[in-house]
Amino acid sequence: MLQNDFYLDPHRLSPEDTAKLDAFYEHCMKHRYFNIGYPESYDFDYSDQKRFLDFHLNNCGAWDEFCNYQLQSFPFEKEVIEYFAGLFKIPFNKCWGYVTNGGTEGNMWGIYIGREKFPEGTLFYSRESHYSVAKIAKILRLPAHAVLADEKGEMVYSDLIKQIKNSRVKHPIILANIGTTVKGAIDNIATIQQKMTEAGFNRQDYYIHCDEALSGMVLPFVDDPQPHTFADGADSLSVSGHKNIGAPMPCGIALAKKENVDSIKVEIDYIACSDKTMSGSRNGHTVLYIWEFIKKHRPDYLRARVANQLALVKYTVDKFRQAGIPAWTQKNSVTVVFPKPSEEVWQKHNMATAGGVTHFVATCHQRNTDMADAMIADVVADFKRRHIRF
Ligand SMILES: Cc1ncc(COP(=O)(O)O)c(C=O)c1O
Repeated sequence: MLQNDFYLDPHRLSPEDTAKLDAFYEHCMKHRYFNIGYPESYDFDYSDQKRFLDFHLNNCGAWDEFCNYQLQSFPFEKEVIEYFAGLFKIPFNKCWGYVTNGGTEGNMWGIYIGREKFPEGTLFYSRESHYSVAKIAKILRLPAHAVLADEKGEMVYSDLIKQIKNSRVKHPIILANIGTTVKGAIDNIATIQQKMTEAGFNRQDYYIHCDEALSGMVLPFVDDPQPHTFADGADSLSVSGHKNIGAPMPCGIALAKKENVDSIKVEIDYIACSDKTMSGSRNGHTVLYIWEFIKKHRPDYLRARVANQLALVKYTVDKFRQAGIPAWTQKNSVTVVFPKPSEEVWQKHNMATAGGVTHFVATCHQRNTDMADAMIADVVADFKRRHIRF
């Protein structure tokens, strides 16, 4: 017989633990719009989704196959992937993708597919790539070379070709940044392909994965985007769901050509489903967030939202320059780069720093210039106080 008496024993948090949680809730409420230093936007409202937190939604396996696990959001995931296939210009039936746990997982998946296509391949990525790329190469035991980047963060294509030639690799796997973490730089995949052709490579002999964590939800909504789609030559790509889309939990979208994804497919009898993803259990809630985002925001809204971000970038660069601070940005970038102020200032505004520079990100929840103005005033006053001129 089962003994159910123990269920009667109420298991509640102690008053101290409740107070601790309450204090953390207050902290979150107070700082919910803090973010101008990292690209996570906080203009989302997924209140429709709160009721699903009563369920464990688990999308283990592939959304396009039968799964024995009832509480999955596969039909929504299908619609999400269909939308992103359209956005990144590949016929839906020619690609496969899924909702990831974030940019790193999507990059690992894309690079893994590249490695399965070219088991003797070598990874080439620029020194401005996100730190997780070197980690991924290590995990996959993939020989890897870091290529030079120029002072604005874009890959030095001559160095890419030089390193590929020096390593005598037949099948390079190239990671192109579509928005670097610190400087928002974009590696031009059209230029990469042109240089590879000049170097004697046929297109089918190398692989391009685009890390679009940052700009993947910016470029589709500008008038003159840099090359970043499958039509432009990507073999796979990864976009962040919690950056320019915005979500309460880390998430992302990864897409690759179907013919290449099929090579990593494995049948799993435990869930009566096949698997083509990096994870085992996958978050079924984040699928619903991204689904809601794409369903309720028409393209013209998303274009206006990105236009606002770019206007805030221009405003911030102009204001810095008027004050004599050499701030800069790049085409279609939501990032403003400027010399690193003192620690108290970058910490006060929660801004990231790297190699002598700091950046400001025009996150979508900034509906006016107040946060930018406060940050600029502090940075300008800081350089003035320390008698630093540029
Ligand atoms: C360009 C770029 N790629 C990849 C990542 C990793 O994404 P995640 O933190 O979602 O794993 C980031 C995160 O900041 C990033 O900026």
